[in-house]
Amino acid sequence: MCGIIAYIGNRKTTDVLLKGLYALEYRGYDSAGVALSDSQTTKIIRSVGRVSELEEKIKKEGNFSSMYGIAHTRWATNGEANLQNAHPHKVGQVTLVHNGIIENADILRKNLEGCGYIFQSNTDSEVAAALLDSLLRESDTLTALTKMKEELTGSYAFAIMIENDSNLYAIRKDSPLLIGVGDKEFFLASDITAIIEYTNQYFLLEPTEIAVLAKEEYKVYEEKQIITKELLTSESSGIDQQKNGYDHYMLKEIMEEPKVLKNLIDRYQDQEKQQELDLSNYQKIDIVACGSAMYAGMIGQSLIEKYADIQVNVFSASEYRYKKKFYDCNTLIMLISQSGETADTIAAMREAKKDGIETLGIVNNPDSTIARECDRIILTEAGVEIAVATTKAYILQVCVLALMSYVTATKKNLFDLRAGMDDFIKIPSLLENVLENQDEYKRIAAQLQDKESCFYIGRGIDYAICLEGSLKLKEVSYIHSEAYQAGELKHGTISLVEQDMPILCVITEKELKEKSISNLKETEARGAKGIIITTTKLDDFNNYLKIVVPTTTELTQSILVVPALQLLSYYVALNRGCDIDKPKNLAKSVTVE
Ligand code: G6P
Repeated sequence: MCGIIAYIGNRKTTDVLLKGLYALEYRGYDSAGVALSDSQTTKIIRSVGRVSELEEKIKKEGNFSSMYGIAHTRWATNGEANLQNAHPHKVGQVTLVHNGIIENADILRKNLEGCGYIFQSNTDSEVAAALLDSLLRESDTLTALTKMKEELTGSYAFAIMIENDSNLYAIRKDSPLLIGVGDKEFFLASDITAIIEYTNQYFLLEPTEIAVLAKEEYKVYEEKQIITKELLTSESSGIDQQKNGYDHYMLKEIMEEPKVLKNLIDRYQDQEKQQELDLSNYQKIDIVACGSAMYAGMIGQSLIEKYADIQVNVFSASEYRYKKKFYDCNTLIMLISQSGETADTIAAMREAKKDGIETLGIVNNPDSTIARECDRIILTEAGVEIAVATTKAYILQVCVLALMSYVTATKKNLFDLRAGMDDFIKIPSLLENVLENQDEYKRIAAQLQDKESCFYIGRGIDYAICLEGSLKLKEVSYIHSEAYQAGELKHGTISLVEQDMPILCVITEKELKEKSISNLKETEARGAKGIIITTTKLDDFNNYLKIVVPTTTELTQSILVVPALQLLSYYVALNRGCDIDKPKNLAKSVTVE
């Protein structure tokens, strides 16, 4: 999703901005741009498509000696992905980049048009630029920025340049923005990875504050008074841009799963450390998340309910924040998020905290909002994930939830400690076997690659696995795919089943095997082609295309099945020539509602 990087200091501005934009690429975007200033003239260069295209354009423009600049990757929200809508936007004396959504942009646009402003783009961001320009006509910069904040509703992070003014300005509300502090050089970034090469010292801007970055110093104002901000130190090692010989980050990140799982499981072998995972104090858990993180939560729901005997509900954060809540005194709100910056998940967390309900975050990014604000935090430590479609971070979320079920069950005397932990310890090497099976995935991928549509079906935890398998296929290969509860398909949706349509049936639970097979047969009777995903123990499927993974316990089985589905999706996408690491329309970090 939109990314911001801005710089003031003695380095070559374009180099810092371009490097920052490359580091932000993984968030997902469809256009990019920079604005450079020598404090009198502002030069804006924008392009649709990749940052590499922007870099080419900048090279063609030749040298422009700039003292500072702002840059942006845009993921279209208001207005399509084209050159006019790309950031930065310049109106009058104001040039800015924006991350977020201005909800009252239409009303403001009308008022500003009434004052003579003519807009070049369809964006809410250009409206914000015009608003600030109009406010600057009647007041000083700090007053104008304060009024701007009062007039805007919605979410925003702005990096702003003003003509004939040698400072950079920043304000933000509900969209991430941090200020990086170096030695006589300062940065604005929506993500620490964009600036970590230069500094690990940073602070976060609060909604009540205004940051002013000058060449030698920075100031932060709150109600026009200068305040002191405490610097934080990021532990981030930045983005490892190496693909280590793999063609895509997605494949590299899948192949890293055994290693990151081992690290996680080793970390939690320590019994004292395991206390972090204990949920035995709660009688009810609401898991709130988006996308794959929510599907990991659904696997967690099955396991926690079954083994730890706690009632769990799973909600998509975008729905949860607006629904009536049924908290009771022992409710835990569990937020799951790779980025820790998903706007809806953050909103749900803040609401729960306001209501005095305990929050626990399972997060990959240690510098994120959720990691900072949750009452309790479990870091998955998968390392930075570059491919937009999550793989290793998702698997670690599932593993944390499985470990939580195990630790809590043990604490409640529902289950034997030693046996359970041994099963976890075996998982990384079993997963290595699953990942070695590449020819098998390629063979099945060849059967899927030309299809327009398919279904994943399963029951119980297998349905939760199907949701992630199906999402992965959609995300990277653009094949329409739906995950369905196997028994529910016949209640309407089976009307879509056609001759030769692939139905991928996930069967890992012995008790549900025959039921799911009956449902698969119902589709085969209508011409569909079944593909089975199962375990060595349950495999007696001789006449099927199939993926068979080693049998482990129910607690850990999904950790072996989903990577097989990730690889399958990868090979389908590869055969279809898709842009696997940056699928169209998708963003890695979804920072708007
Ligand atoms: C986006 C990503 C998904 C991810 C979801 C939640 O849609 O493309 O892969 O599952 O956001 O992200 P989070 O960072 O909160 O896990």
